[in-house]
Amino acid sequence: MKDVSKLDFHNHLIPGVDDGAATVDDGVAGIATMAAQGIRHIVATPHLRASLVARTTDCASYLGDVGVAWQRLLDSAAPMEGINIYRGFEILLDVPSVDLSDPLLRLAGSKFVLVEFPFVSIPPHSETALFNIKIQECEPIVAHPERYAGIQEDPLRAKEWLRVGAHLQANAGSFIGQYGRAAERTVWTLLELGLLAYVCSDFHAVGACQTEPAYKAIEKRYGPDVPRRLFSDNPLGILKNETPLRVQPPPRRGILGWLRSRLRP
Ligand SMILES: [Fe+2]
Repeated sequence: MKDVSKLDFHNHLIPGVDDGAATVDDGVAGIATMAAQGIRHIVATPHLRASLVARTTDCASYLGDVGVAWQRLLDSAAPMEGINIYRGFEILLDVPSVDLSDPLLRLAGSKFVLVEFPFVSIPPHSETALFNIKIQECEPIVAHPERYAGIQEDPLRAKEWLRVGAHLQANAGSFIGQYGRAAERTVWTLLELGLLAYVCSDFHAVGACQTEPAYKAIEKRYGPDVPRRLFSDNPLGILKNETPLRVQPPPRRGILGWLRSRLRP
């Protein structure tokens, strides 16, 4: 399994800029933890509010702070061979429109953009916000859909985001219960419905990184092709501006499999 080279584009390793790594040492240790789980490419994605992007002076100040912290991390992590580190952001769509012309706001300068919504309630403008990204010739990736209450209540609601051209990225920890039973149940349902394109760690630099346990859990259930596409093939495609391939697990046998197949779109 470790031979599969993975790319992780959702994590919080840049020191002192959000709720992730507090120090450079934390960030470097976080990179080492991820590397030990077969992650060879890391797109570091600190939090950013879409509403801040419109406030150009404040945004420039924050991007400057992130740039300085990023360089300190890069200088300290330089001795690690075989690990490629890129920049991006996890953008909270707290307003329905965000200017993405600055390539720093996108994943490794590609056309892909990692976005999230507030957990408590998905805003009514969610499809509009995603469509506003598409018309900038960018591709939105919605982070951890399984953690939103609205998706937990109705996983098929996530299809509305796919309809406007978004892709879905699940958190590795969700597959093994890190975020509770509802997120765990929902993430497996989204996978079985064929709605997920990517799995990333959302690792905050300290504690456990759940990439390897999640990979193994998915592999145990569906064989090697499904996790390879979720953790490696599709994420690596971001570096080449390639749209992700659909991930449709094979149907499971028995009554559970029959029920799932009735739900599948
Ligand atoms: Fe995150």
